[in-house]
Amino acid sequence: MSLKKVLLTALLVLSVALVGCGSDKAAKQDKVLKVATSPDFAPFAFTEEKSKEYVGFEMDLIKAIAKQMGTKAEISNISFDGLIPALLANNVDLAISGVTITPERQQKVDFSQAYYRSGLSIMVRTENNEIKSFKDLAGKKVAVQIGTSSATAAKNIPNATVREFNLVPEVVMELQNKGVDAVINDLPVNQYFLATTKTKDVKLVGELLSTEDYGIMVNKGNKKLLEQINKAMDELKKNGEYDKIYKKWFGELKK
Ligand code: ARG
Repeated sequence: MSLKKVLLTALLVLSVALVGCGSDKAAKQDKVLKVATSPDFAPFAFTEEKSKEYVGFEMDLIKAIAKQMGTKAEISNISFDGLIPALLANNVDLAISGVTITPERQQKVDFSQAYYRSGLSIMVRTENNEIKSFKDLAGKKVAVQIGTSSATAAKNIPNATVREFNLVPEVVMELQNKGVDAVINDLPVNQYFLATTKTKDVKLVGELLSTEDYGIMVNKGNKKLLEQINKAMDELKKNGEYDKIYKKWFGELKK
C-alpha cells in the first residue's frame, strides 16, 4: 500500500468515527421529550407554590411515560390556546394539559389513547339560587377559559355574555368578584378547587354538561411518537403505575 493510500484510509476511518460520534450525540439530545402544558389546571398540571415546580396528575403521568420510553420529560409552560400552535411550529413534541379529544382538534393534531374521563360543570356563587342548570344560564354572564370546550359550550347559551380569560384561576376569581354569574369548567378541576380551598363562596350546580376524554396531543402524522406514548401508557396501566398516580391525585374517586 502506498503511503497515500494508507493516509487516505486512515482519514476515512477517522471521519466515519467522527460522524458516528456526532449522530450519537444528536440521538441522545433528540430523546428528551419536549412537553408543553398550561399549568393552571390543578390537579392535572399546576405550579407548586414553594418549589415553583410543575406538578400534578399529568406531570407524574408524562414523567412515567418518558421513563418508560427510556428518556426524560422537559416541561414548558405554554398558555392553553397556544398549545396547538406550539406543536404545529415544532417547538414541542407533545402537549398534555387536560385537553379534551374533539373532532375539531383532530383535524389539526393527533391524540393518544384517552387517559382520563372528564366532563364540564357549572359553578355559581353560593347565594345564587336562580341558576340550577345549563338552561338557567340564558341571558347571564358566564366566564370561561379561552380556547376550551367550556368556551364552545358557552357560545350555545342564548343571550349570554361570555367572558373569556387566559387562565383558569382568573375565570374563578371573576365569579368570586361578582364579575360574572357563573363559570363553566371541567368538573375535576372545580372539585379540586372546592376541596383544597374549602371556600364557601362558590358551589357546583346542575348535572354534567358533557362527557369528555383527555388525550395527549402530538403533531399530525407523528406516528412513531404516538405509538411509543400509547405503548408506554398500556404498560403503565398494566403494571399498576397509572393506578398509583391516579390514587395520589384523586384518592378513591371513580375513574
Ligand atoms: N378540557 C378542556 C378542553 O380541552 C379544558 C382544558 C383546559 N386545560 C388547561 N390546562 N387549562 O378544552
